[in-house]
Amino acid sequence: MKTRQAVLADALEISAFLEQLVFVGKRNLPSDPEFVRCNYIAHADNIQCTVAVDNDGSILGLQILKIASEGNIYGVDIGWGIIGTHVRPDAARRGVGKALFKATHKAAVDAGIQKIDATIGASNPSGLSYYDAMGFNTYRMTSSKISKCFDVRV
Ligand SMILES: CC(C)(COP(=O)(O)OP(=O)(O)OC[C@H]1O[C@@H](n2cnc3c(N)ncnc32)[C@H](O)[C@@H]1OP(=O)(O)O)[C@@H](O)C(=O)NCCC(=O)NCCS
Repeated sequence: MKTRQAVLADALEISAFLEQLVFVGKRNLPSDPEFVRCNYIAHADNIQCTVAVDNDGSILGLQILKIASEGNIYGVDIGWGIIGTHVRPDAARRGVGKALFKATHKAAVDAGIQKIDATIGASNPSGLSYYDAMGFNTYRMTSSKISKCFDVRV
């Protein structure tokens, strides 16, 4: 497995596995290729969008690091990073998320980001455990969402 920057041509393949995540009940956002291009691969606030690829070149997962800009829909403090992670269901628990965060962490350091927000559904135990394992700590919660913070400086 290796990681590389996502390119627009990855959108179809990413869309396909996001649809699989919807099918298994692990996602409820749009997953069409246009959504993937606009919100993940080429969003104006992107710091980096990374994919993990298998030896045969197939995409195993995606991680997006954006900068929180004024009026961001997550209510995250301006200047923080905002992270999202999506791993192909049949590639879960193989270290894909870990490899993606290694690349994202480097991008955060290079961009001078000090804190990263991860906002996860409160009923998503694997997502919560994943971010805990990456070193994120809970800093706020609502009835439906838990927000965790990673301190890049530590
Ligand atoms: C959550 C998700 C990103 C984890 O990705 P992954 O590639 O399976 O994670 P990794 O294999 O790198 O696991 C790293 C660590 O995270 C934790 N972890 C990951 N999945 C877990 C699970 N299902 N249960 C408990 N801990 C888990 C473990 O500590 C794991 O280390 P270990 O395998 O040595 O015990 C992936 O399952 C996913 O995409 N889920 C659907 C979308 C989602 O929920 N995204 C995140 C919230 S928005």
